Amino acid sequence: MEKGALQQLLSQMSLREKIGQMIQLTGACFDEEAVLTGETGTDQLPEEAVWMAGSVLGMIGGEKIREIQKVYMEKHPHHIPLLFMADVIHGCRTIFPIPLAQACSFHPQLVQEGAAVAAGEASSEGIRASFSPMIDVSKDARWGRIMESFGEDPYLNGVMGTAMLNGYQGDRSGTGTEIAGCLKHFAGYGAVSAGREYNDVEMSQRTFLEQYVRPFRMAMQAKPAMVMTAFTAIDRKPVSANRQLLHQLLRSQLGFEGVVISDWGSIGQLEEQRVATDQKEAARMAADAGVDIDMMSPAYVHWLEELVEEGTVAMEQIDACVWNILKMKNRLGLFEDPFAGIGKSQILSEESRTVAYTLACESCVLLKNDQILPLDQNQKVLWAGPYVDSPQLLSRWAIFGRHSDVNTIEAALKETGAQAECLQGCEMLSQEECRMWQVREPSGASGGIRLEDVAKIQRDDTVVLVLGEHESQSGEAASRAFLDLPAPQQELFEAVAQRTDNLITVIIAGRPLDLRAVTEKSRAVLLAFRPGTMGAKAITSLVYGKENPSGKLAVSIPYCVGQAPVSYWDMTTGHAMSQQETDNRYRSRYMDIPNKPLYSFGYGLSYTQFEISDLRIGKEKAKDDGKVSVWCKVKNIGQRAGAEVVQCYIQTLFAAIVRPEKELIRFQKVFLEPEEEAEVEFSIRVEEFLYYDEKMHLTYTNTPFQILVGNSSECVRTAGVVQF
Ligand code: NOJ
Repeated sequence: MEKGALQQLLSQMSLREKIGQMIQLTGACFDEEAVLTGETGTDQLPEEAVWMAGSVLGMIGGEKIREIQKVYMEKHPHHIPLLFMADVIHGCRTIFPIPLAQACSFHPQLVQEGAAVAAGEASSEGIRASFSPMIDVSKDARWGRIMESFGEDPYLNGVMGTAMLNGYQGDRSGTGTEIAGCLKHFAGYGAVSAGREYNDVEMSQRTFLEQYVRPFRMAMQAKPAMVMTAFTAIDRKPVSANRQLLHQLLRSQLGFEGVVISDWGSIGQLEEQRVATDQKEAARMAADAGVDIDMMSPAYVHWLEELVEEGTVAMEQIDACVWNILKMKNRLGLFEDPFAGIGKSQILSEESRTVAYTLACESCVLLKNDQILPLDQNQKVLWAGPYVDSPQLLSRWAIFGRHSDVNTIEAALKETGAQAECLQGCEMLSQEECRMWQVREPSGASGGIRLEDVAKIQRDDTVVLVLGEHESQSGEAASRAFLDLPAPQQELFEAVAQRTDNLITVIIAGRPLDLRAVTEKSRAVLLAFRPGTMGAKAITSLVYGKENPSGKLAVSIPYCVGQAPVSYWDMTTGHAMSQQETDNRYRSRYMDIPNKPLYSFGYGLSYTQFEISDLRIGKEKAKDDGKVSVWCKVKNIGQRAGAEVVQCYIQTLFAAIVRPEKELIRFQKVFLEPEEEAEVEFSIRVEEFLYYDEKMHLTYTNTPFQILVGNSSECVRTAGVVQF
């Protein structure tokens, strides 16, 4: 629709219609099969409010949605189409690895391809907007939502968030197969205190802007259709009522032009946070702050009309919100054809599965390999653990994923024809853990380990144990104070580790776990996080060497839970602990554990070796075009083809304020045949060195920055120093 026609439409709408656009309800108002992803907060709505709501969430089904849309549009005074949104977080029907795993691929192009597949499947099933990507910097393994983020690094979150958005939103050619993306949660939610879900956030303004807002700033180049406000507060001011953040920072400084949507009930929650006296006050505060859509709280639906009529909320404010929403619907082509994408893309096609498989392979991180992997598939191997015959390779955020579409490891082994015997060994969770995680217990499950399975293992047998968290142990509302494997699996691990010297452990999880015992007692450890629909095939291909691991950690694996939150970019401290001074008490240290994580950000092994050499930087000063160039060579010096992620970090050598230890500023994944060598060039814009000085002014002058290059955050060498 032309801009003029859209403006005319807005001018003809009644107040009630306008407010309708600003309300999002659960799809359960229209369809009892809709998925509920939060508590219902909109009590008994008048029927008119339901049929006037501008968008719904949690519904799927092309034909079902077509029918609802038809009836809805007939009833709607101006026949404005309803927008169907949902949490398509890591795939719709074809489920990709969780975002945390996708980040470990360090392969943004592949992440973009996966998102394009998800957009095709979602739109084919009637969904035209997704609440993804989540780019909350997350360094606390206790937080269940760490699985939905791209990990601990701000830059990596920015790169991957941009890639995912580009995949969802496509080239906007209006085919109906693209969907609107939503950057979330603006901002700081990843730093909830003590990793406890929905908890308060405390951090300095500097850290907030430099580290937590940075990915949002970066992803603005992909023109996100929506941004979702965080449940949390920044500087004690809840984001959904924070005009300064939403107007000054998000719209004016970051240049965001799309729709601001609240999180589920986050407007109504202002009352609970005791910053609004009641729901009416909450509605006023959120409208004033610039929240265009109220997702699932009673505030806008019950109070906005009255607030406008009494003059507390200005009509211009309402018009500005509705204009943003109409523009989004228009950009999706809904006015021309509200059914455009339905049935257009194939679900779980061969091509989609191939992207999911490649992404799963590239997401797995080989943490340890004591000359045992890859295995020969003609050698007899015992595969054991509750994951061997389980399709639970998805996640709680794969709300439309079906376990019936997932191949198990046992099935994948049969397909490859490997000489493998499978043993379950134990249940996934004990009975008590089932209750704690609200999982229906498998009938008759004892929760203990199967001694008869363990007894089959001989000392020289090679055993691959596949262990990990249950799907319900990560995601929203899944914080943990312990990072251990479930009880029966720990017991199984110890029993198996005592019986064989050739133990390989594969870990499936939605977060970094405490892997000390596992890495100590296994000869090899492969971390798959939650690998998705094609996860089983990816794991077996990696173990048998059909594929070469190339994933690198997007998040540090803490030494133990007491070390969390931990990241490679933690601030530089006084009393710094050096490698040599391990017996000095008066250092910034723990007396009982090392300072370093068990495995640091950027780490990951391959079946081949790479050599990084010839590190150089363009000039000691910035070039005239405002760029710094960094070069190096990377060579595959092993026997197999493989991929190395060359990583470039900057380290502030001296500044008036304390700065992070290191910051990732570029990376490149390079695929090389044996003996092949490639030259890598990174070009860094001068603005990317900006930081907030003591007066909170952005600066990069008079500051020496060391440029470091390597293959993990721990393994880097200096390429030079620049100063502007
Ligand atoms: C709450 C979550 O925080 C948000 O990320 C999600 O998109 C909404 N619920 C909708 O399910």
